[in-house]
Amino acid sequence: MKRLPLAVLAAVFSLCLARGADTLTMATEATFPPYEFLRGQEVVGIDVELSRAVAQKLGRAFRVENMDFDAVIPSVMSGKAQLAASGITITEDRRKNVDFSIPYVKTGIVVIYPKKTPFTDAAQLKGKKIGVQSGTTSETHVLEQLKQEPERFKTTPEACAAMLAGRCAFVIADIDPAKNCVKGDDRLAISDFISSEEYAIAVAKGQGELLAAVNETIRAAQADGRLAKWTEAYKAESDKLKEVAPAATAPAEKGALGKLWDSICDDFYLCFLKPGADGSVRGTYLVRGLGVTIEVALSAIVLGLLIGFLVAVVRSSHDKYGYFPFLNAVSKVYLTIIRGTPMVVQLLITYYIVLRSVESKELIAILAFGINSGAYQAEILRAGITSIDPGQMEAGRALGLGYWATMLRIILPQAVRNVLPALGNEFIVLMKDTSIVGYIALIDLAKGGDIIRSQTYSVYLPYLTVAAVYLVLVMTFTWLLGKLERYLRNTGADVVHNNS
Ligand code: ARG
Repeated sequence: MKRLPLAVLAAVFSLCLARGADTLTMATEATFPPYEFLRGQEVVGIDVELSRAVAQKLGRAFRVENMDFDAVIPSVMSGKAQLAASGITITEDRRKNVDFSIPYVKTGIVVIYPKKTPFTDAAQLKGKKIGVQSGTTSETHVLEQLKQEPERFKTTPEACAAMLAGRCAFVIADIDPAKNCVKGDDRLAISDFISSEEYAIAVAKGQGELLAAVNETIRAAQADGRLAKWTEAYKAESDKLKEVAPAATAPAEKGALGKLWDSICDDFYLCFLKPGADGSVRGTYLVRGLGVTIEVALSAIVLGLLIGFLVAVVRSSHDKYGYFPFLNAVSKVYLTIIRGTPMVVQLLITYYIVLRSVESKELIAILAFGINSGAYQAEILRAGITSIDPGQMEAGRALGLGYWATMLRIILPQAVRNVLPALGNEFIVLMKDTSIVGYIALIDLAKGGDIIRSQTYSVYLPYLTVAAVYLVLVMTFTWLLGKLERYLRNTGADVVHNNS
């Protein structure tokens, strides 16, 4: 019974596999010149040539799929792709999940550093913020050799951008893409190798024939000079066009569960209970991430409410009585800009530009989300204020209360009660929207699940657990709001009673 869902999944996967049986798909992450990079929309590079040669040898059609690097190996494990060719370093850990071809490059990782703080000694790395591409051997280096958490980015160019913005002290990356990052940028330089590595192409376990074809292709390309020729040509091309390819967005999918781990329990152990590379249990990513999610969401809700109240009062006072013309104009600009641009862009602008010098990523997230949510809350509250009979204001004033006192004590309480469901909606959206804070390398609940996924190559439990935790969070919040609504309704009734 326990295996039934797995069987269904396996069937679905094999159906998908059967459909694309004669196409050889290469999985890669194309911000890695000269091995793979974008020429316009097309992925080109040494790895692409090698893999295409394999497809030719096998007489199969060829296709490249560009995705996040930490999805590349999982995609051959799940059968979504047949070759993982992405400047992939041979490591013992990876060998447990995939088979490697013979190596085709000897290379290594280096430190990229800002020239104004030269890097001369490995001891300088200790305790510093170090940017890496998520899922790479550079990440493992920081975790295992330096015994600290790296700053994870989707691509090496993104990590370098963050370093230039003062967000991390150093970046660790493979030498060739590192050279490309510093190319033409006189603020950056690279060190000697801090560790040596060899690249190979990875295939799913048990694909003997395919692996043999890959090995033969590599040997032939080495022997007849094609490999050297490609290397020269793509180095020249990528040198000319400094690559700052956009982050790949292909979703990471894999079905390794059934193949590699016998039961959901094993997977559960691996994902949540087994110590990660830095010694702590992986589940702590989720626990700490949940803390960050709650902290950011609740603080942003409060900030948004403050902003929302102010803007709503200004806007409705202006519309009804012509008060605050200047503030009204400012509010309109604020509403237009905030509601007219995507949240993730606002977050990145806050992080890289507006609050560049602010250390705390939590604070940056709270401000970005609070300011964003304020715009939506303002309009909801304005609707609430407008819905209150103007007689209420007149009554308040007639009783001798000032404008603000009437607003605060008579109008707003009724307005809030009327729009509470709409406000609740906004809070829920905000709570879930905070899941994009991974963009600024802040580890919230969603990013925590993503890190576990990238370390374990397991997708089901990390993502389903994250989804379940969000669901519980939102349900709890909805329940609390319901209670608040009932409470306000009842006290509201009392007031009316007492007054009458
Ligand atoms: N060699 C490193 C690794 O295997 C980094 C590879 C990154 N490759 C890429 N196409 N972005 O972890």
